[in-house]
Amino acid sequence: MSADLDRELQQRLDALCEEGWELWTRFDMEVRQDTWHPFVAADYAVVQQALIERRAPGLRFLELGSATGVIAIMADMLGYESYGIELDDELVRVSRDLAERFGSDARFVRGSFLPTDFRKAEGEDPRLATIGDAPSAYPELGYALDDFDIVFGFPWDGEESTMLELIKIWGSDEACLLLHSVARGVEAYRGGRLL
Ligand SMILES: C[S@@+](CC[C@H](N)C(=O)[O-])C[C@H]1O[C@@H](n2cnc3c(N)ncnc32)[C@H](O)[C@@H]1O
Repeated sequence: MSADLDRELQQRLDALCEEGWELWTRFDMEVRQDTWHPFVAADYAVVQQALIERRAPGLRFLELGSATGVIAIMADMLGYESYGIELDDELVRVSRDLAERFGSDARFVRGSFLPTDFRKAEGEDPRLATIGDAPSAYPELGYALDDFDIVFGFPWDGEESTMLELIKIWGSDEACLLLHSVARGVEAYRGGRLL
């Protein structure tokens, strides 16, 4: 519970996170027990606090790899103009359904968060192990990476450098990249530097 939030908003956020955990548990049982899948859920309470601390009018937010959409919907509830990009068709459907049920304007696009001109390094690049391939989502989104003020990612180990490179090359100089990890919570970067 955050002291900055009014009671009704806090209740909606709590309900969203609760539903997010249910979706994750079901996904883990129905999908991940049989096949490996790159979706694991972030610590929603930790991410929520980071979004509360940074919210300000008029900020545009992007979630890289939005899965069930909980974080992008949370950002929308907190006043960001919010978008998510996700590779997995079924997860995009789940996130749109969740947004509708919570009356959220967060928008989800199926595709890759890698820009069209992003080139993977030749050969096996362990940094990109779980970053999948698909046509870039930005044309459908109608925005480029440098149109976003706050970009969130929950990279697998070793993928942080790719997300940092993404923002450094394709992002706006003023953009804040929030990287979540189990060990360090949420860390904020601007211009490639840890804030
Ligand atoms: C570790 S999960 C994070 C899920 C969610 N952001 C969260 O924090 O709860 C990473 C997600 O990114 C998606 N993903 C992987 N590579 C992607 C790509 N190139 N473009 C879009 N989504 C991608 C995966 O399908 C997966 O749902």
